[in-house]
Amino acid sequence: MVIQRLKIIDYRNYASAEIQLGRGVNLFIGDNAQGKTNLLESIRLASVGRSARTTRWQELIRWGAKQASVTVRVRSEAGSDEVTVRLGQTKSVLVNGFPISRMGELMGVVKTVLFTPDELRIVKESPGERRRFTDIALCQLSRGYFYSLTRYNRALAQRNKLLKGNPTDSELTVWDMQLAKEGARVTRTRRKFAERLATFAEGIHRELSGGETLSIGYEGCEGEELSEIEDALMAELEKSRARDRQFSVTHVGPQRDDLSIRSDGIDLRTYGSQGQQRSAALSLKLAEMELLKNEGGEYPILLLDDVLSELDEKRQSKLIENIKAYQTIITCTHLPEDVRERIGDVTEFRVQSGNVNKKEN
Ligand SMILES: Nc1ncnc2c1ncn2[C@@H]1O[C@H](COP(=O)(O)OP(=O)(O)O)[C@@H](O)[C@H]1O
Ligand SMILES: [Mg+2]
Repeated sequence: MVIQRLKIIDYRNYASAEIQLGRGVNLFIGDNAQGKTNLLESIRLASVGRSARTTRWQELIRWGAKQASVTVRVRSEAGSDEVTVRLGQTKSVLVNGFPISRMGELMGVVKTVLFTPDELRIVKESPGERRRFTDIALCQLSRGYFYSLTRYNRALAQRNKLLKGNPTDSELTVWDMQLAKEGARVTRTRRKFAERLATFAEGIHRELSGGETLSIGYEGCEGEELSEIEDALMAELEKSRARDRQFSVTHVGPQRDDLSIRSDGIDLRTYGSQGQQRSAALSLKLAEMELLKNEGGEYPILLLDDVLSELDEKRQSKLIENIKAYQTIITCTHLPEDVRERIGDVTEFRVQSGNVNKKEN
């Protein structure tokens, strides 16, 4: 999948910009605070419906403007698609000119993998960051998963609200059943994702680290069959009920799960060196690319925000060797000549105060 064109209006510090992207590596170079990350953020918005930097989409509208819009045109094996996100009084999304009624319809139209300095810390970050990584990848692969997760989160919010009002046991049981049913789907899908991701990540990591064995697993309610997980979740909810009542919050379920990340038996989340954690993060991201390709039929678009300069030479080389296989959009403040040479053919743009200009060579 490749992005052919990005058009943004009144988005962050851009009044208006229209960019024709190249098929391979696209470089956006500019000083700090010129709008490089804003560009990737707008692409990610059209891809997964939200910004990686804020949950308040009102912040994305250019100061003083009333509404913003982002349009991304992609070409995939299936043909061309166009996504437009309009931000004004409300957020609305159009796919090929038609407004969608459910966010799930956006999932998978523009597939992206995002790699930022924040993501480089994913291994040592809180479980929430690793769940988010898992969920966003899965939502792009499966609308069914997106809807399951939405239903689960809604039921969870309802149960938590109910807990504040001293509910009867039978009132809680109604929500427990809902939670266990949707939670089982979420848990099972995530566990299978972790298993598939692990196979790709292991090979990538071995090469990257000179022989270390990375193992990724899912930490959550056990069980193979849906009914098994559902029963186990139901039992956990019952066991946790008194505590849940006391704190007015649900203590068990997939909202507490995590990905385990080990190397040669050591838990990298707590005991990994910074170098090991970074290598594992890079392996996870590259594995995500391979998994999405394997299951979606083609590579997603890789968005690299300012990470090249954060990697040492070995990790940089591994990344560069990989990005040649797909469309990559890279932002950086500068790029050493030798790195540029190793990348080879690039389409280059200059970013300055919300203006983007293609560099002609
Ligand atoms: N809603 C907004 N309207 C106008 N400018 C904004 C808005 N949000 C952020 N900015 C500006 O965008 C710039 C940051 O852009 P960013 O893409 O993060 O820079 P960088 O090139 O360093 O990645 C800052 O100058 C900031 O003031
Ligand atoms: Mg930036």
